[in-house]
Amino acid sequence: MATPSTQLPTISRASGDPAALTADALVVALRTGTDGGVPAASGLAKKPAAALTAAADAVGHTGKAGSTVRIPSPTGFKAASVVLVGIGDVDEHTSGSDASLEALRRAAGNALRALDSVDSVALAFPAAEADAAEAVATGALLGSYRYTAYLSDAADKNPVTKLQVVAPATAQSGLDRAATVARAAADARDLVNQPPLDLFPASFAQTIVDQSAAADLKKAKVRVEVLEEETLRERGFGGLIGVGSGSTRGPRLVKISYAPKKAATHLSLVGKGITFDTGGISLKPPAKMEEMKSDMAGAAAAAASVFAIARLGLPVRVTAWLALAENMPSGSAQRPADVLRIYGGKTVEVTNTDAEGRLVLADALVAAQEESPDLIVDIATLTGAQVVALGLRTTGVMGTDAARNKLVLAAEATGEQMWPMPIPEEMIRSFDSNTADLTNAGGRAGGMLAAAAFLQEFVEDGVEWAHLDIAGPSYNAEGPHGYTVKGGTGVPVRTLVELAGQLAGA
Ligand code: BES
Ligand code: MN
Ligand code: ZN
Repeated sequence: MATPSTQLPTISRASGDPAALTADALVVALRTGTDGGVPAASGLAKKPAAALTAAADAVGHTGKAGSTVRIPSPTGFKAASVVLVGIGDVDEHTSGSDASLEALRRAAGNALRALDSVDSVALAFPAAEADAAEAVATGALLGSYRYTAYLSDAADKNPVTKLQVVAPATAQSGLDRAATVARAAADARDLVNQPPLDLFPASFAQTIVDQSAAADLKKAKVRVEVLEEETLRERGFGGLIGVGSGSTRGPRLVKISYAPKKAATHLSLVGKGITFDTGGISLKPPAKMEEMKSDMAGAAAAAASVFAIARLGLPVRVTAWLALAENMPSGSAQRPADVLRIYGGKTVEVTNTDAEGRLVLADALVAAQEESPDLIVDIATLTGAQVVALGLRTTGVMGTDAARNKLVLAAEATGEQMWPMPIPEEMIRSFDSNTADLTNAGGRAGGMLAAAAFLQEFVEDGVEWAHLDIAGPSYNAEGPHGYTVKGGTGVPVRTLVELAGQLAGA
């Protein structure tokens, strides 16, 4: 079954007084005033603003970030209901800072998550500038996401189909950009959420081929190449072949290329795409194993990002490499003690079949370097140690100093939380093998950093490279918050697109 594409609402710009807008719900941002919640919306006339201030007062809404209250519309409002959402200490003048933009995204996301069974929603926020309008639209679009592909009665869910953001004409570009980037994040979520019965290496590859047939991607000359299992074996992709050997559904390596004529630089995105990670013969315990359907989130993000970058027409050459395999235990599975030959020739003794991501990434990293890109970013749900070190929402960023800093900077602009981490030089010693060049599982201490040290062995000196460990942030198994729903989050698509934009601008 091809990956079903979740429909996001359409987004359009509205102008004039928000009170005059027709919608099932009008979402109004409230900031914290000295005396309670104050409407912080562009274009609101005095009278409706006073009515909203009174309403906020009546329900005790102080404008605090995270607070969301839906009320029947006060007199003078055309919309059927009003949703008051807190944005905290943000007004027209401060709305351009990274923190304030994130407050707008989260508030819009909170509102849209709270709205079920409504068709049209208008948002009145401090959105006079394009970046603020983009933030509001992004939060609203991502907060409206509902994964309904496998529900027998999805019609009941009645998703929002139409969003309007109150903003001046000069902010239209922000809305357009939000639509493209949120679409990409939703595509990544869809892939992560799809059950592994239906998402396996060949079906993943086919979904990417199908998606690349969209008219705008064809026009941007996006190309997809799928290396089948036999080709991988012949060409010596020992990591993918070894990890995939336990499954009846063989591995694939997918290469997506976007190469605009005016490209300033060449960015390679390498994604871990384990469509299900049982651990293999080093079998995982049963608790929460179902979350391992998300072990392809890096590959999903890489694919969605290159498509978004192409749709935006950014002048950056981007190549995505999706290393796809299913890690299963079986009579044909690789065993602990087996030695693999990674693409390019390095050998690895597999001491733990559950450290499979680094094996498929090693193949893809070596392949990516054959094109001599200016920057390589790999994206992987690589270690449980990432969650221990940084928690469920903060991506660990490792690699060369310059590349790592670029990623952390790009992340700040998007609100996706990332933090730089080192690759201590001594760590690679824990991968010493008696038989091969390396083992695949080093010491337990600093497991996220150790995994990065392993990957570093497959990155040549002088190559700019960043490694993103997204084990926690790519999949939300706890409660929803802001524009982050349960399940796939779409992290770090928005940061990768932002990075491409920053590379284009530099
Ligand atoms: N896919 C897992 C890492 C993971 C854990 C992702 C939790 C998302 C949430 C990875 O393949 C894995 O199993 N890593 C091992 C490595 C160890 C065997 C060296 C781990 O983290 O335990
Ligand atoms: Mn594993
Ligand atoms: Zn894994």
